[in-house]
Amino acid sequence: MQAFITLENMGHTYTDNEGNRVDALKNINLTIAKGEFVAVIGTNGSGKSTLARHVNALLQPSAGCCFVNGMDTRQPEQLWQIRQTVGMVFQNPDNQLVATLVEEDVAFGPENLGLPPAEISRRVEEALAQVGMTEYRQHGPHLLSGGQKQRIAIAGVLAMRPSCLVLDEPTAMLDPQGRSEVLSTVRKLHREEGMTVLYITHFMEEAVTADRIIVMHQGSIQLDGSPAEVFSQVAVLKKIGLDVPVAAEVAHRLREKGWKLPGEIITNEALAVALCP
Ligand SMILES: Nc1ncnc2c1ncn2[C@@H]1O[C@H](COP(=O)(O)OP(=O)(O)O)[C@@H](O)[C@H]1O
Ligand SMILES: [Mg+2]
Repeated sequence: MQAFITLENMGHTYTDNEGNRVDALKNINLTIAKGEFVAVIGTNGSGKSTLARHVNALLQPSAGCCFVNGMDTRQPEQLWQIRQTVGMVFQNPDNQLVATLVEEDVAFGPENLGLPPAEISRRVEEALAQVGMTEYRQHGPHLLSGGQKQRIAIAGVLAMRPSCLVLDEPTAMLDPQGRSEVLSTVRKLHREEGMTVLYITHFMEEAVTADRIIVMHQGSIQLDGSPAEVFSQVAVLKKIGLDVPVAAEVAHRLREKGWKLPGEIITNEALAVALCP
């Protein structure tokens, strides 16, 4: 396993407006391999966004260190390369779209890289195809649905040719249709392009589809494992205020009542099979 992101004893302390110190991340040790799809969950204020910003070197560790593909985020001369390597997608698509036409928006990043026009149009075309938005290239972004806007924001990041995507609650503002469009777009990029993905979400059904889930709580990693491992810890998750998928919850309650069920039930399908073998 080739480590792609490594956090070593990393901490982050903010100073708030009143001058108080806020330990947003405490002694984080984490390795993410190249090509992994990792979901990050946790209640508000648990440190998810702070973690995401370190991976893109938008923040500097207050303690310990963060490496991205071998590059130390504390080294100013590495910043450019780190931000080329890791593309960030945020919650609100409207804040990420800048141009009046979809294709101009996707071209914005490569234009800033000073690439030749032919290379820019190649990248725009490819990125739009990757998110399934080619037919909208001449549309105004403001006329698109939330899910489509977020796919354009992802295309804008892809046009920079990153090898890792960090998405900070990219579906939080979308309707169910938009959420599923965005998640399946990201899953496809992971599957077909081998992209490393760090996907922050508060939707448990989205987290279930990851290879691995990290649960943040009060600035620390509370759980780290496969979806089946993490969602079998129903009591721990409930204690820190997180939901579990309905199937995991039902299986947990049945077990408490003495039912003998197999260990890994996190999807409705698995629950159905367990109950009616
Ligand atoms: N710019 C900031 N200044 C001071 N405190 C901050 C700042 N940003 C975040 N925090 C605090 O750091 C903690 C973690 O925040 P954050 O990483 O945004 O969590 P999450 O994304 O999980 O909601 C919270 O207590 C939050 O209030
Ligand atoms: Mg956040």
